[in-house]
Amino acid sequence: MADFTSNFWSWYIIIPVVAGFIFCLFLIIWMSGGTLSGGKAKPTGHIWDEDLQELNNPLPGWWVNLFYITIVFGAIYLVLYPGLGNYEGLLGWTSQGRYEKEVKAADKRFSPIYKAYAQVNLRTLVHDAKAMKTGQRLFTNYCTVCHGSDAGGAPGFPNLTDSAWLYGGEPEQIKQSIMNGRAGVMPAWEPALGAKGVHEVGEYVISLSGRKVHISAAEAGEKRFMAMCAACHGKDGKGKIALGAPNLTDNIWLYGGSQKTINESIAKGRGGKMPAHKDFLGADKVHLLAAYIYSLSR
Ligand code: HEC
Ligand code: HEC
Repeated sequence: MADFTSNFWSWYIIIPVVAGFIFCLFLIIWMSGGTLSGGKAKPTGHIWDEDLQELNNPLPGWWVNLFYITIVFGAIYLVLYPGLGNYEGLLGWTSQGRYEKEVKAADKRFSPIYKAYAQVNLRTLVHDAKAMKTGQRLFTNYCTVCHGSDAGGAPGFPNLTDSAWLYGGEPEQIKQSIMNGRAGVMPAWEPALGAKGVHEVGEYVISLSGRKVHISAAEAGEKRFMAMCAACHGKDGKGKIALGAPNLTDNIWLYGGSQKTINESIAKGRGGKMPAHKDFLGADKVHLLAAYIYSLSR
């Protein structure tokens, strides 16, 4: 509510709400005023078959009282809680405040547990079944959107369960990846190589994992590879974890292993980003997650 710059929307809410209260009160007083003196019901004025009168019998007392109680409840609620336009309510309740309170309570309850796990060496923590269960829950909450519910990855999002690592699969390296994030930089080569050059070097890349290629194209591609690619992917094409440059010889592909996709990686470049989780989750949770990820690949 407080996000609006003018009061128009505030009054747009307040006026119909207050009018609604007045209308309900008016309606109930009007409807319950049905008796004449002497306790007889007022006629409505409708008459059938000469003397058959429709009477306006009063509503039952308990029902009328319930109606009054709902109106009073509604009014008290709107005085205490936000509901009337920009008015914040006497209790100062906000959904944000309530959320923060719950998060604080949860942190207070669970942070000692994470803190205790954080004291345990990553390699030892892997053997703690209860810790791994908690790690799995954290993974489901924070990581599955990108890495998949089974951590199996998707094009552009690495599989975390295999033995192929962009940035290294030792527990400390995994922890680094989660703490500080990672950013792979693969430049676009089409401007420098042209379509033919991309095709040739693509053929060479495919040959690295033992697949059939056109020998002459791959040979031309090899020269280009040594000149332009080896600095990051290594002379043998096995990659460099310091740069996150993937191993091109294991037939495991981050973006896909079809000729079309490989050529696209080379022509257009790639730039995968793993967000840093240090501030978002805190070091203790990241520690537990690192142990969990380490356990997946073993
Ligand atoms: C917004 C998407 C996204 C989220 C959320 C995300 N990741 Fe990642 N993650 C990536 C991408 C993309 C990469 C690969 C980066 C690259 O290509 O250089 C990656 C890389 C990694 C790596 C390094 C893998 C390797 O081969 O070295 C690890 C470990 C990892 N993520 C773990 C996690 C964990 C644990 C979480 C949950 C806390 C998580 N990620 C959440 C997108 C994400
Ligand atoms: C500056 C370092 C660098 C250079 C130079 C470089 N690459 Fe890369 N390459 C990378 C990185 C980093 C990635 C991973 C990108 C990501 O994480 O999103 C990558 C990804 C790739 C991929 C996708 C692999 C997969 O698993 O899907 C291919 C194919 C590739 N490079 C081929 C080449 C070729 C061919 C050349 C030379 C023409 C080259 N690269 C030059 C750093 C480099």
